[in-house]
Amino acid sequence: MTPSEPIDVATIGEDLRLLEGIRSTRAIRRLRPDPVPGELIRKVCEAGTFAPSGGNRQPWKFVAVTDPERRQWVADRYRPLFLDYIAPAVERAKDPSFPDARRRMQAAAIHLAEHLHEVPVHLFVAGWTRRGHPQLQALMPCIQNILLACRAVGLGASLTTLHRGFGEECDRWLGLPEGCPSCALIPIGWPIGRYGTPPRRPVDECLSWERYEEPPEAP
Ligand SMILES: Cc1cc2nc3c(=O)[nH]c(=O)nc-3n(C[C@H](O)[C@H](O)[C@H](O)COP(=O)(O)O)c2cc1C
Repeated sequence: MTPSEPIDVATIGEDLRLLEGIRSTRAIRRLRPDPVPGELIRKVCEAGTFAPSGGNRQPWKFVAVTDPERRQWVADRYRPLFLDYIAPAVERAKDPSFPDARRRMQAAAIHLAEHLHEVPVHLFVAGWTRRGHPQLQALMPCIQNILLACRAVGLGASLTTLHRGFGEECDRWLGLPEGCPSCALIPIGWPIGRYGTPPRRPVDECLSWERYEEPPEAP
């Protein structure tokens, strides 16, 4: 929700408990078109800069795109790529046995693709490549910190990477230096709904002790 009170950038989000924030951070793809103060974007990017990185090289660069015509430029390219990408899954979702949670996720992702131009901030996270290796892995802790910081201050956000389908054109358009590709596009805005709890497998299905063991079959 858009805050009804004026925002105090220094204190907003500072009181959310860390684990509670982690458990309630999820992809928020239905966002209001209302503007987000630049200082708040600066604050979530600052959280990104506290991430670990190999050799503490801190490879990240952030470009926040807010100009409506520039957002339209991104959206016009992202939308057809995304709709193409999701088409086979939409077909599978016609089967009544398709899980409802995945159908809802598809609908939200399609909503984002169709409304991306209205999302007030397109935050690109870029980073230097090392020895030709893709940089997403090195930027992931930084990206996750940004997503958590968005949660803390009440903003909605999600991680997207499909813009890599027009990545080279996009990087030139963003003015990024050679060898510093944009690895993630994080659309950020005030959420339309609530955060809720993301659907996740129980930890005991994922955790073994000493040696890996297949989890017991669900009864
Ligand atoms: C590496 C990576 C790439 C992703 N790319 C996209 C994307 O291009 N578009 C999109 O809508 N979501 C993308 N997502 C978001 C996932 O779909 C989302 O995290 C997942 O569905 C869980 O959502 P939840 O936290 O709301 O349960 C990406 C996530 C990751 C980790």
